[in-house]
Amino acid sequence: MENIREKLAELQGKFAEIYGVSLEASVFAPGRVNLIGEHTDYNGGFVLPCALSYGTFALGRKRADRKLRMYSDNVTRLGIMEGSLDDLKAYENDHFTGYVKGVIWAAEEAGFVCDTGMDILIWGDVPNGSGLSSSAALEVAIGLLIKTMFSFDTMTQPQIALLSQKAENEFMGMQCGIMDQFISAMGKEGHALLLNTGTLTYKHIPLELEDAEIVIVNSCVKHSLVGSAYNDRRNECEKALALIRQAMQDGVLALPASGKLPEGLCELTAEEFEAAAGVLKDEILCARAKHAVYENDRTIRAAEALSHGNTALFGKLMRESHASLRDLYEVSCEEMDILTDIANAKEYVLGARMTGGGFGGCSVNLIKAGYGKQFRKEVGEAYTAKTGKKPLFYACVPGEGARVVEPQA
Ligand code: GLA
Repeated sequence: MENIREKLAELQGKFAEIYGVSLEASVFAPGRVNLIGEHTDYNGGFVLPCALSYGTFALGRKRADRKLRMYSDNVTRLGIMEGSLDDLKAYENDHFTGYVKGVIWAAEEAGFVCDTGMDILIWGDVPNGSGLSSSAALEVAIGLLIKTMFSFDTMTQPQIALLSQKAENEFMGMQCGIMDQFISAMGKEGHALLLNTGTLTYKHIPLELEDAEIVIVNSCVKHSLVGSAYNDRRNECEKALALIRQAMQDGVLALPASGKLPEGLCELTAEEFEAAAGVLKDEILCARAKHAVYENDRTIRAAEALSHGNTALFGKLMRESHASLRDLYEVSCEEMDILTDIANAKEYVLGARMTGGGFGGCSVNLIKAGYGKQFRKEVGEAYTAKTGKKPLFYACVPGEGARVVEPQA
């Protein structure tokens, strides 16, 4: 985003133009890039994302009635979409309003009841379907907007993340974990966030690299059925966990070191998983569970490497992460493998991997400092030559999490 204040001033004018009144509150919530720890966040494991400077604005004003009027300055052809607080249900033609209604609904379920309708305008610059969490940014922005407008003072940022996840899970039907919403709400400028998704405890880790830089590349590939393939992976992990727990209850397997039945696959160490693998029998379940357990271990080691400025080790773990997502978890795709193979073959690339849910979207690349231009040129040209697609490159500037942004008087 060019300049947050300038963009806000422009949107403020748009709001007055569309609704004929001035806004009462405006907020911004960022998208994210995950550095490592993929598909661990619904297995109780660690993730290591950072918030981006790209994100979503939500501007609003309370109404006297119970109507919801929603306008996206990204999809202006839709015009003002209407809904009502008395009809917080998902419909086929909801488009972006599903996220808005979903968060208002989830907040209400948690006792944060909006007592009047609203006029809302949104705009964002996280590319849709790129794996950089445009939907989480929208959800978290709406959560913070209603907190601000309705003075829900006890609603915390982690709670906004949880409400947003609930909206995505139960309203939108996407069984995502907590990573995207949590980092959008809790990001810190210049830092990555190491989050234990089993306990929601976290630590911000400085991301000021001396000898390396991070570049995000959009493969510009979007596959359909991503949502159902994602939900399938989640079910497979749940099945694997249930089998392991059963074997532990039956005394066929020893309990993990904690002495308790695991609540998520990532509670198992690699050794515990290897001992348990036999009870899974099914090859696919075994591969999925193996990815979750080893990816979690890689994430812990990567965070450690990052705190010591060991970018070489970090890069190596990124490469291993991609291989595991490709071979064991099977959430990459041909174009993404081409993109990361091209990058990983360059001696100035420390590590490249897919980021986010998968099946297209973006890669995250750790490259030696000073090679940004060469990377864009060489990787861009080679990718286009092999796929016919033109990739997009984004800088990774670790930004602050969701916040209120003051409109101009
Ligand atoms: C999507 C989901 C996240 C997470 C990632 C994979 O982004 O929304 O919860 O599971 O995929 O790591």
